[in-house]
Amino acid sequence: MATARTHTTKREAFGSRNVFILSAIGSAVGLGNIWRFPYVAYEGGGGAFLIPYLCALLTAGIPLLFFDYAIGHRFRGSAPLAFRRMHRAAEPLGWWQVLICVVIASYYAAIIAWATMYTWFSAQLTWGPGNEQDFFFGEFLQSADVAEAGVSTTFVPQVGIPLAFVWLAVIVIMALGVKRGIGRANLILMPLLTVMFAILVVQSLFLPGALEGLNAFFTPNWEALANPAVWASAYGHIFFSLSVAFGIMVTYASYLKRKTDLTGSGLVVAFANSGFEILAGIGVFAALGFMAQVQGTEVSGVASSGIGLAFIAFPTIVSQATGGSIIGVLFFGALVFAGVTSLISVLEVVVGALQDKLGWGRVRTTLVVSIPIAVISMALFSTTTALTVLDTTDAFVNAFGIMLVALVAVIVVAWLLRRVPMLKEHLNRRSSFKIGWFWMLLVGVLAPVVLGYLFISELIAKISAPYGDYPGWFLGIFGWGMVVALIVLAVLLSLLPWGGRSHAKDDPDYDEFLDVEQYDPDPETSAVPMERAGQRGADA
Ligand code: ALA
Repeated sequence: MATARTHTTKREAFGSRNVFILSAIGSAVGLGNIWRFPYVAYEGGGGAFLIPYLCALLTAGIPLLFFDYAIGHRFRGSAPLAFRRMHRAAEPLGWWQVLICVVIASYYAAIIAWATMYTWFSAQLTWGPGNEQDFFFGEFLQSADVAEAGVSTTFVPQVGIPLAFVWLAVIVIMALGVKRGIGRANLILMPLLTVMFAILVVQSLFLPGALEGLNAFFTPNWEALANPAVWASAYGHIFFSLSVAFGIMVTYASYLKRKTDLTGSGLVVAFANSGFEILAGIGVFAALGFMAQVQGTEVSGVASSGIGLAFIAFPTIVSQATGGSIIGVLFFGALVFAGVTSLISVLEVVVGALQDKLGWGRVRTTLVVSIPIAVISMALFSTTTALTVLDTTDAFVNAFGIMLVALVAVIVVAWLLRRVPMLKEHLNRRSSFKIGWFWMLLVGVLAPVVLGYLFISELIAKISAPYGDYPGWFLGIFGWGMVVALIVLAVLLSLLPWGGRSHAKDDPDYDEFLDVEQYDPDPETSAVPMERAGQRGADA
């Protein structure tokens, strides 16, 4: 049999449901909320974007958040273990999510390192007013063109050194475990983040020109609603933003106690995340309104995309506003805190999975998993071609990693394994907010249709024109090659033998966790749950 030895340690757990909720909000609220959402919303029709955004949240974001919670909580495992317990053949889905997290973690840490340096730069206005763009691309990142330089190995110390510190801090948090590390980090960082962000938003609202910025953000462009690409970007954004479909919520839910209100917690997390996101939009656009007024142009002329918005437009605001340094320290400090609480959740998907698979202790697994990822992250993202590699891996892992694994997972679970009714029942057992056939319809029918549409349109877009006009060989390695490698590696990892808690009988928590009279924890015999459960009860 695949199982090598009996696992004796108890599964880690969050200290309480509130710590879990805080940690799930910490995971959801990340770089995506603060600098991605405001621009996506603005480009997608400003105020009118809130309609596709809310539709995406209610019809896909929240239903799939419940879906992830149900899988992690019901099968009480990291992503590969939870999928394996659902069905042996589904294990590669979990590893696919784990590998997506390896990629995300390696570039996510780099953006946190930039934000750390910019917190410091803001206090001194290091970039020199008027020089924000050249400073970011030139002096700071020392960006080189991949078409000319190839993939560079030239080390950029002002990025590499803070990146090493980010990894050190995150590895310490991870090594401390779920309760003492992740839970405690969120207990400290999330209240700090909230206070800093509230001050930042209020301060932005008092900048001259703020109202113009808010008008630009909220004035609806109804025509945008007729554009399918706007709907696609709303659905695409919600998965990354809610940390849904890449193993995080499956893993976090596996650390919850049996009697937990899952759907109630999910609603709190989802609405907190969206509240943060909309608040970020208000704060960022109020600041952009100010910048437009100072430069005597329209807000549309100063609103630029993701990385540019944070690291070029914001430093410009910091240079021009009275008390700008405070705005800068609050903004970049908030990015660091929001980023760290999300990065630890991304990394937990990998650490938790390997801990389950190998049956090793926390510290050993953390070091064996995190050090190689930190080395990859340093090798790729502290060189002069970091920005291009980051842009490409981010675009491809979102389109053909997160969205594709979400599509395959809902098809496998809903249509091949037909586990959606069982997941619904599990969610309803302890939850305050009951779900019914409508949830099953959203997960089983609407989600595959929307995700299938998004996948095909992304595929056409990326095949018909080289992404970012980058060279073919480069996209072949860091784009297409990377996403195919994740799938192949996922299958290979699922073939490796389990040394940890692969099977219910090896896991001391598993029976206790489930009500044996209702469910059979043995995936191979789950076709006859009642009889088998009775037999288990008799055996005990
Ligand atoms: N949910 C995280 C973010 O928004 C990953 O950045």
